[in-house]
Amino acid sequence: PIPVIIDCDTGVDDALALLLAVRHPGLDLRAVTCVAGNTDVDGVVRNTLTVLEQAGAPDIPVGRGAERPLIEPARPARHVHGSDGMGDLGLPAPTRAPADVDAVTLLRREILASPRPVTLIPTAPLTNIALLLRTHPEVTRNIERIVFMGGAVAVGNATPVAEFNVWHDPEAAAILLTAGVPITMYGLDVFMRVVVDAPDVHRLRASSDPGTRLAGELLAHRPTTQGEAPEAEEAGGLGDAGAVCAVADPAGLTTRLLPVEVSLAPGPARGQTIVDRRPRPGESEIHEGKREHALVDVALEVDVDRYVKLYLETVER
Ligand code: BDR
Ligand code: CA
Repeated sequence: PIPVIIDCDTGVDDALALLLAVRHPGLDLRAVTCVAGNTDVDGVVRNTLTVLEQAGAPDIPVGRGAERPLIEPARPARHVHGSDGMGDLGLPAPTRAPADVDAVTLLRREILASPRPVTLIPTAPLTNIALLLRTHPEVTRNIERIVFMGGAVAVGNATPVAEFNVWHDPEAAAILLTAGVPITMYGLDVFMRVVVDAPDVHRLRASSDPGTRLAGELLAHRPTTQGEAPEAEEAGGLGDAGAVCAVADPAGLTTRLLPVEVSLAPGPARGQTIVDRRPRPGESEIHEGKREHALVDVALEVDVDRYVKLYLETVER
């Protein structure tokens, strides 16, 4: 199996991603690290520990990470994820504590200890990952690639042009993009499209297995398109879990290697991922010279049926 580490802000859809990673036979989830995002970091740690217990994986180490972005204050998304950050489903409190080392130390330890290069799957603001890359740059030698949920080629959600994870900590995202390791951007363009239909959600909710049932409850809580009322009762988007699908089954995603830059200037474009899809250079390159940008494998299309099938088959296993 592919060794993976998820860095998350659990989070309804982060929880869906954890359930998939725990149950997929092709993935070896070696650790989970937590960061402030959808809710405060202690809430994220609590939610993450609970989800892993419900999924039957209570031994995976969980690290508590950054309480706030590098520069901005934390700005939680409780309107999307509920007051507990996970849909207010009334889940039990976890029975164990997180690891006795912080997220960055845990990431370094697990990456360097892995016999095979690790794939990192950040599904949250990139604060922990940026701190890791700046504190322990030697980890890149044992990172296969980083598949992150974040950014958007077209339309944003936190602002008209910025996606939440990048908007929450734009400087951290900029550090990630220039890390010098292969990066796949699973952005909103594909994120929004992978939706599980109501009958399937209904079946999951009726399961006798606690992990499968939890997936159903979480999906029922997910809007089909973020911020809007669900189109069909109970249908729900996979959200962050799609980034895990992209690691387990890369052939379901169509990507293109494109220059990507994060807008860092204050103002309406802050946090936007500017993806250069032009076929040829424009006036700015002609007059001002070529600017160097990180090349990122950007997800442009997704095979929705394939990823929904992958998700259902795995969590119902
Ligand atoms: C991202 O923001 C969070 O609310 C979700 O968990 C997802 O990671 C989508 O913009
Ligand atoms: Ca998330």
